[in-house]
Amino acid sequence: MSIFATKSIEQIEAEQIGPGEGTLKRVLGPAQLVSLGVGAIIGTGIFVLTGQAAAANAGPAIVLSMVIAGLTSVLAALCYSEFAASVPVAGSAYTYAYATLGEFVAWVIGWDLILEYALGAATVAVGWSGNLVTLLHQLGVTFPAAISAAPGTIVKVAGGDPITAVFNVPAVLITIAVTLLLIIGVSESATVNAVIVVIKLAVVLIVIGAGALFIDPANWHPFIPPNTGTFGEYGWSGVLRGAGVIFFAYIGFDAVSTSAQEARNPQRDMPRGILGSLAICTVLFVLVSGVMVGIVPYRQMLNEPAPLVIAIDAAAQRAVGSVWEGPLDVVKVLVTVGALAALSSVMVVMMLAQPRIFLAMSRDGLLPEWAGRVHPRFKTPHRSTIVTGIAVALASGLTPIGTLGTLVSIGTLMAFVIVSIGVIVLRRTRPDLPRPFRMPMVPLLPALSALVALVLMLGLPRATWERLVLWMVLGLLFYGVYGYRKSRLRAQGAGSEDPAYLH
Ligand code: ALA
Repeated sequence: MSIFATKSIEQIEAEQIGPGEGTLKRVLGPAQLVSLGVGAIIGTGIFVLTGQAAAANAGPAIVLSMVIAGLTSVLAALCYSEFAASVPVAGSAYTYAYATLGEFVAWVIGWDLILEYALGAATVAVGWSGNLVTLLHQLGVTFPAAISAAPGTIVKVAGGDPITAVFNVPAVLITIAVTLLLIIGVSESATVNAVIVVIKLAVVLIVIGAGALFIDPANWHPFIPPNTGTFGEYGWSGVLRGAGVIFFAYIGFDAVSTSAQEARNPQRDMPRGILGSLAICTVLFVLVSGVMVGIVPYRQMLNEPAPLVIAIDAAAQRAVGSVWEGPLDVVKVLVTVGALAALSSVMVVMMLAQPRIFLAMSRDGLLPEWAGRVHPRFKTPHRSTIVTGIAVALASGLTPIGTLGTLVSIGTLMAFVIVSIGVIVLRRTRPDLPRPFRMPMVPLLPALSALVALVLMLGLPRATWERLVLWMVLGLLFYGVYGYRKSRLRAQGAGSEDPAYLH
């Protein structure tokens, strides 16, 4: 049987993907699904990477980068919606690929999703660390700079010489905490999620509202600073690279699709949850980024661990002597505390998703069977959760946020390219499949979706591409020595034929 053998949709639907899923209740309505998406989306991207990308790549035109990354995500979200409505299992791009493009592509995407989820969690952990250090500073406590960032990072110290960091201790600590929570099974309930979503929205709206009062339009000029002569440093190439970097901020709407089995009416509500949460976040992100570069000269946010706080600081300085002076000091602390809560919840979503994907891959025989074991008492995939935790801890302790974030962006964009092509393929191979949500203008729109995701990938630095290639080569080697021989589908020889596009 060829490595392009596909699993039939019926076979996928007949299988249970996660532990205890037979008992999942269909309780989530459209509002909860939107809230789930918003909870997964608002995180390090908007709290940390946006300011840094404005400073290093796009300048005030980070607003344009935000619009471009948002449109790319909307196109991909339409593709995800079509899949999530017609294949309403607790799936992911991995499952969709198995059904459409065959096992080999499914493996590629599953391996690639490790970049999105595990490395995504590591990126958020580093953002969390930066916000914690900032909060402690606001409270008058100095966290030792040497253990607050990745090795080699130059950390500014108030009133002293810069220090070269050796390890990011807070990032590792938050990772350990989230891992332990997930092992004993304290995943987010819909209620906890709703509370955190309210906090996130409040923080973002406060920044927009308070910040708007202190915008100095001079900071928006020149809107697109001239390119320095290096690709990606301001100018239009900077806008493109900025879009690739802050694309990270939009990642997470696909997490809604992992709750398909808990949705009351997945066919109707999956697309609403995915597209609704994305629409809300796109509007908020464009506004926040515009306000941010309107309050503070963009260069001031360079390499800052909490750029949003730098912006509020700038507003507070302008407010000295006015009635706003006191409230803005409170806002600063609220934003930092809110960011810590917001980032923790994103980590939970990502570190919950990763072991479930490992579980699905191990059930398909593409990963060793032990990775899919479920703890007898806690009913969680404890082993793959621990492996995920160790990987996230090491990555977050040792790697700078920029390196992590761009690798996550490129990996997720690659998954989007494959999912977009998958929509076109599935329309051809399974025209009969009920599609409660149909992406409009197929094949034009999914082709455009694949194309823009590819263009954003092309805007990212060469080093990011090299890391992606290295990672994928490792994945191919692993498939060659393991999955190729152990695949359950090919061992059974029972799957469907090769997909039609190969004939
Ligand atoms: N979009 C999520 C974040 O920004 C991953 O943290």
